[in-house]
Amino acid sequence: MAIKFISSLCLVLLILCSGGGSVWAQEQPQALAERAINLLSYIAVDYADAVADGEVRDPRLYRQLQRQAQTAAALLQQLPDRPGRTQLDGALNELQKSIGKRDSPDSVRRRANTAADRLAALYQLPRSPAEMLPSPAEVQTVYAERCAHCHGASGVPAADSGSDLRNRERMARFSLYDLYNTLDPTRNDAHGHAIDGDLSSRQRWALAVLVAGFSAPAQMPEAVLAEQYPALVGLPGIAVTRPSELPAEAAAALTWWRANPEYTRRLQHPLARAAGLIQLAQTSYRAGDAAESYHQLMLALREGFAPARLELEERNGALTARLDQQWLELRQAILDEAPTNEVIEKFQRLQAELLRAREALQPVPKTGLYGWAALLFALALAMGGLLWRGLRRWSRR
Ligand code: HEC
Repeated sequence: MAIKFISSLCLVLLILCSGGGSVWAQEQPQALAERAINLLSYIAVDYADAVADGEVRDPRLYRQLQRQAQTAAALLQQLPDRPGRTQLDGALNELQKSIGKRDSPDSVRRRANTAADRLAALYQLPRSPAEMLPSPAEVQTVYAERCAHCHGASGVPAADSGSDLRNRERMARFSLYDLYNTLDPTRNDAHGHAIDGDLSSRQRWALAVLVAGFSAPAQMPEAVLAEQYPALVGLPGIAVTRPSELPAEAAAALTWWRANPEYTRRLQHPLARAAGLIQLAQTSYRAGDAAESYHQLMLALREGFAPARLELEERNGALTARLDQQWLELRQAILDEAPTNEVIEKFQRLQAELLRAREALQPVPKTGLYGWAALLFALALAMGGLLWRGLRRWSRR
């Protein structure tokens, strides 16, 4: 009991004190992998403009895409070997052949996107911010000053000065992360350093959100869709999913949600936010970035678990105590920079318990009470009936 009390006290203190920055600062050289991913996602986006019905429609673009696929394969060769790299190499080969055969845009797009996603997983690239997506309002002035003269105030370029950011079909082929990459001159050549070289990461995410807004539907999706596709209203799903890969109603919903993060935030259950952040923290730890992993874990605790903890404690005290203990242990393991497999196991146990917590917090069905009342009522009727028959038999004697 005392231990339980102390651990929950520690946890409360931790939640209160975890507002600061991270403990370490370290940089991971991931630029090559990020560049390769950017090339692949652009093949996915551009191919439909180069080839249709097995015919090359735009020879210059087609040759450029072939070169991009080659470059992506060459970049992969420069990356350190990992289990799974040979298969990825094979996938990039298949992609090159598929482009060579002028395969359908759908199949090339899927191949390129799948390869990009596998590359990100293999090299543990963080493709989502840990903090909530910023509001586009934060960069309204930046856009007006730096982007509008080429792309137009509402995404439609004046003349041939920039690509049309209101093209729905094309924009649906980008994830927010793909757009974010476009705004980083170390990963993409669309713009020079003078245009977006000095932007902060937060400004780039906010610009990605703002740009996504140009092609978003005006109508807010129905709330029930957020329950149907919970991964699309929270990080990392909202940042890494390309609407083009989803069924139509989910695609339309995601295009709206990702352009309106201030609203979308409220649709997500805090424990789902915790789960998303823990996923990110796990990726960071695998990538060797203990500092970022720690930061993301503390965010998960503060913004995900803390808001749900009180209600959970009322519903299931034992589970809450176990969770308190697990947060503390995991935090300590990360601070100690414990071996990766040990830490990952702790992450996975925490995720499993959080899933149980989600179940414990399901609303108590009100019909349950009425159900019991109805049952008792039926029982009373039956008893009454028996009594009545018994009485009748008795009176006949
Ligand atoms: C000097 C003109 C110019 C400026 C300024 C400019 N862009 Fe661009 N932008 C372009 C051109 C041209 C392309 C297409 C590049 C290509 O296809 O290689 C592009 C591509 C893009 C794309 C990718 C769209 C697609 O369909 O491929 C995005 C997103 C984008 N710009 C956003 C921005 C934002 C945000 C800013 C401000 C920070 C900005 N641009 C500033 C000219 C400009």
